[in-house]
Amino acid sequence: MPNILPCSGTARLAESISRVSGFGIIKKNVNKFPDGEMHIKLENVDFKGDVVYILQSLFPDQNNSIVELLLTINAVSESGGRPVAVVPYMPYSRQDKLFEKGEAFSLKAILMSMKACGAERLITVDPHFSRREGKSVMFGLTVTSLSASKAVYDYAKSVNGSIVLVGPDEGSMDFLSDLKCTVFMKKKKKFEDRKDGTLNYKISLDVPDFNGKNVLLMDDIISSGETMVTAAKLLKGKGKNVSIACTHGLFIGDSAKKLKKYSDTIIATDTVESEFSKVSVAEIIAREISE
Ligand code: R5P
Repeated sequence: MPNILPCSGTARLAESISRVSGFGIIKKNVNKFPDGEMHIKLENVDFKGDVVYILQSLFPDQNNSIVELLLTINAVSESGGRPVAVVPYMPYSRQDKLFEKGEAFSLKAILMSMKACGAERLITVDPHFSRREGKSVMFGLTVTSLSASKAVYDYAKSVNGSIVLVGPDEGSMDFLSDLKCTVFMKKKKKFEDRKDGTLNYKISLDVPDFNGKNVLLMDDIISSGETMVTAAKLLKGKGKNVSIACTHGLFIGDSAKKLKKYSDTIIATDTVESEFSKVSVAEIIAREISE
């Protein structure tokens, strides 16, 4: 019988997935050595070839969370289980190719590490590297991409009634195509160096006319909030009501405060827990692992 093994910060989601799937929850202990290294020890060590769904959110604190995930995958594999990584929000997904010479191919490095530690496959939700639902093999690892876009859209409709779905940039086209979204704000320039050394997006947009209708701006991820703030700022006053939605709401820095200024509702899922996590991905994940 498969089991769910939650990593740090995923206890709530694990319980919801367990309720829907009927799979049990198993535990592990995470300790730190005096020098800061992590020590993982499973409570159950007798898997006899059972599939173990290791749930890890990977945000915040992506880097430590990745190490915890890799060690847990390895511990399950060493104990005779078949580890499947379930990562609702997959960080490093935007570094899904080599944009410039000399860069690390971050996504490749992380997926290869999961595979090397023993993961049979990865299940994730709306990853930046694959905007469509389905299975693919990436760097030797089977990856199943699920999508929460319809659940988010349906929730937004239940709150606002009829809405015009708008992509904040051309990059959101693929992500929103299953929802038959045809309205996009155009033009997006990629990275720009900021004075503080961080990389950010610079965008300029064409604003379509919405004739006073309710507008839902939707994207896969809100990180610094720049993309959404820029789009929402231009829409303010053009639509009757502007809502903002995404699957992964990271809401870095004061982005939530800025977004609230230009929108009436903010909606995200619980792939990353926040005050805006109004839609749960538990059922979407439970359906996949119960098949
Ligand atoms: C980019 O291609 C993504 O789909 C998002 O538009 C972007 O990552 C959002 O980032 P931020 O909130 O920092 O603008």
